Amino acid sequence: MNHLLSVGDLGPDGIAEVLRLTDAFVEVSERAIPRVPALRGRTVATLFFEDSTRTRLSFETAAKRLSADTMTFAAGASSMNKGESLRDTAMTVEAMGVDAMVVRHRAAGAPWQVASWVDAAVINAGDGWHEHPTQALLDAYTIVQSRGSLDGCRVAIVGDVKHSRVARSDVLAFTALGAEVTLVAPATLLPPSLEGWPVQASHDLDAVLPKTDVVYLLRMQRERQREALLPSLREYTHHFGLTRRRADLLDTDALIMHPGPMNRGVEIAADVADLPNAVIVDQVRYGVAVRMAVLFQMLGSGDV
Ligand code: NCD
Repeated sequence: MNHLLSVGDLGPDGIAEVLRLTDAFVEVSERAIPRVPALRGRTVATLFFEDSTRTRLSFETAAKRLSADTMTFAAGASSMNKGESLRDTAMTVEAMGVDAMVVRHRAAGAPWQVASWVDAAVINAGDGWHEHPTQALLDAYTIVQSRGSLDGCRVAIVGDVKHSRVARSDVLAFTALGAEVTLVAPATLLPPSLEGWPVQASHDLDAVLPKTDVVYLLRMQRERQREALLPSLREYTHHFGLTRRRADLLDTDALIMHPGPMNRGVEIAADVADLPNAVIVDQVRYGVAVRMAVLFQMLGSGDV
C-alpha cells in the first residue's frame, strides 16, 4: 500500500488483510508495555487542518506504539495563518524528513493533492464530506470482533449522511465485506442522489430497527450545514434519535455504534450510549490497533 486515500482502493481482500493484521496489534496494545520496534527510525507527521480529538490522538498513539517518531501540525497554530499554502506547508513538512503524513482537511480531495506533491506515504484522516478510510476500517473491525463477520450483516446508518465522510467510507467498506446497508434519515440529510450506491434508504427508523444487526448513529454536523435542513434538533431527535424506547426495538445482540464525538441527547440518548451492546468505546480502542496495522503495512518490513 502506497497511500491510503479511499477505503475503496483496498478492495475486499485489502480490507480483510488490514483486519487480519490488526489482530496482532490488538495483542500488542494489551501488553504491559504496549510497544514494538517495528517502525524505529521512521517519522510519522499528523497534519490536521480541521479539528479532531480521537483521530489525531489515535494516529499518534499508533505511531508511538510502533516506535516511530511523531510530528504534529495543527493548522490553528501554524504559518497557514500567515498565508502559507497547503502545498508549501506539505513540502516544508516533507523537507524535515517524514515517511508518512496523516492528513485531515475540510476540502474533499486535499489528501490526494498532498499525495501528488510529496514522496511520503499519505493517509487520509478525513477530507471534507468525502472519506475517512481508517474510521471505516476500525468500524468494520469492531463489527467483525463482535459478530464474526460482516457477510449478510444488516447495518443501518442513521442521521446526517449528507455531510458524513464516515458514512461514505463505511458504505464502501461494509458492502465490500458483504453487508446490507440501509441509510435512515430525513430526505434533507440524505445525499441528493444515491445512484451507484449499493444501499437502501428509509425515513422510518422504527420500522428499520427490528430488522437491524448494527445501528450506526451519525453526529448532526451542523458546522457543515449551510442551510436550515431541519425544523429543530428536538424534532430530529423525536423522529431519528436512538431513544431508550427505540433501542428496545433492537435484537438483544444488535450493536450500537457511533464514530464520536457524540451529542448525547440528540442522535443518541444519554443512557443508550452506555448500554452493554453499545460498542462505542471498543471502536476507539480498536482504532489504535487498526491504525498501527495501516502504518505497519505502509512503512514496515518483516514481522510484527
Ligand atoms: C468524525 C469525523 O471527524 O469525521 N469523527 C471521527 O473522526 N471519529 C465524525 C464527526 O465529526 O461527526
